[in-house]
Amino acid sequence: MIESGDRIMLWNPAEKILIIADGEVKRISGLGVVDTAKLIGSKWGDEISFGSKSYRMLQISLEHAPELIKRGPQIIRPHMGSLIVHNCDVSCGDIVVEGGAGSGMMSAILNRAVGSEGRVHTYELREDHLRLARSNISLLGLQDTWYPVIGDVTKDVEEKDVDAFILDIPEPWEALEMAHSCLKNGGHIAAYIPSMNQMEKVYVDMRDNGFADVRAFENIRRDMSVGKGNTRPAFEMLGHTGYVVFGRKISSK
Ligand SMILES: C[S@@+](CC[C@H](N)C(=O)[O-])C[C@H]1O[C@@H](n2cnc3c(N)ncnc32)[C@H](O)[C@@H]1O
Repeated sequence: MIESGDRIMLWNPAEKILIIADGEVKRISGLGVVDTAKLIGSKWGDEISFGSKSYRMLQISLEHAPELIKRGPQIIRPHMGSLIVHNCDVSCGDIVVEGGAGSGMMSAILNRAVGSEGRVHTYELREDHLRLARSNISLLGLQDTWYPVIGDVTKDVEEKDVDAFILDIPEPWEALEMAHSCLKNGGHIAAYIPSMNQMEKVYVDMRDNGFADVRAFENIRRDMSVGKGNTRPAFEMLGHTGYVVFGRKISSK
């Protein structure tokens, strides 16, 4: 049952729209004026129509968050973000450090993964980026475990014994020493980078500076266009987003 304050993703195959059911009357782009009080009490999955458009009312899925949030700096796409969570074994109750916030997409994925008992400390150099990330994180309702900081992830991190250290900054090798001093032994590091040259540098620097189990890969996703008797790969494909390098902190360099 949809309750007051719930975030509703209006879904149809062509469009996803986020509405917060706070009981207020709002103007929603593409829909017109919506009285959100009328949505409260509906069942999840119910159909709703606005003029000629109809949608299913679903809980937010982070898979569709790129279409729901406001975009600024390049985001980590959910298919890569979820792989980072998996490879870093991020789970309920974990303490995670992240740099930088950008549009907040990876912060959202991490906040969801650490659950209500965990914490995500995100360091970001730029106030305008942190403002954008903050508004996206609260739009998605994931702010309770998020501790954003204006600061440099290569030198300002104060947390110790952290479970994972996640980087999406242009020069992640600059943060390796900081990460090593903040992580617990065996803790995970991940660095997301767009080019092969950066990938090679961060890989070698990790391997030579106190990290083991260093691995790098790309994750290319190909969506399918499914129709009875006419199933094939979709014509359009995102050919490249970035590479990711993983490692585990070992006790001595
Ligand atoms: C590509 S964006 C991150 C996008 C984010 N991962 C997402 O999914 O939305 C990179 C961000 O790192 C920030 N940044 C760059 N160097 C940094 C540093 N040394 N410490 C903290 N933030 C940094 C930039 O200002 C920018 O906002």
